Amino acid sequence: MGSQWGYDKAYLRAKHEGYRSRAAYKLMEIQKKFSIIRPTDNIVDLGAAPGSWLQVERNLTTARVLGIDLNPIAELAGVETIEGDISDPAVIALVKEKLPLVNIVLCDAAPKLSGHKSYDQARIIELNEQALAFACKVLKQGGNFAIKSFQGTDFPELYADCRKFFYSVRTCNTKSTRKGSTELYIVAKNFIGTPE
Ligand SMILES: C[S@@+](CC[C@H](N)C(=O)[O-])C[C@H]1O[C@@H](n2cnc3c(N)ncnc32)[C@H](O)[C@@H]1O
Repeated sequence: MGSQWGYDKAYLRAKHEGYRSRAAYKLMEIQKKFSIIRPTDNIVDLGAAPGSWLQVERNLTTARVLGIDLNPIAELAGVETIEGDISDPAVIALVKEKLPLVNIVLCDAAPKLSGHKSYDQARIIELNEQALAFACKVLKQGGNFAIKSFQGTDFPELYADCRKFFYSVRTCNTKSTRKGSTELYIVAKNFIGTPE
């Protein structure tokens, strides 16, 4: 229990509506609030398995959708996938080769948690920073980025890092997040670009 609908309701709703997980509703909320995805945007989704965000993205753009995850992503019509680690330079190179123009990078990646709060928080922020670095390497100027993080001591630094690269940076909770969770999304719009 705990979200706006309660855990079971959200889970059942996702099942009923054909989404691979309840996370689909989080991206829908973010899109409703911030309109980060435009109808002809090419999208790269980091930490995309099992693929519910990919399903939502596929409905929001007519352009290309590419999902990356450590785990295999079951086939989804009109979606390309890469099995790999977002911190691996070979994966970044492969994305550049496959998709030379990227308008949107989204990241819902989460590491396996150990249960040790401070270690887990540090690991999450490290993964977030890797995702931000990934976005800065592939995004077109003017592109958008959204990432799942968690409130904690290192969060302000991540937020500040996003502000270095995007003209507009906001945080957002989603109603479909479980109650009590410190989950917080950063929505960064209008990529400034990085010097080559
Ligand atoms: C919460 S799930 C993502 C759910 C997805 N947005 C959806 O809607 O189906 C988090 C994912 O992050 C992936 N992940 C964690 N670390 C990663 C990394 N370094 N590179 C790629 N994927 C990673 C995990 O394998 C896991 O599948």
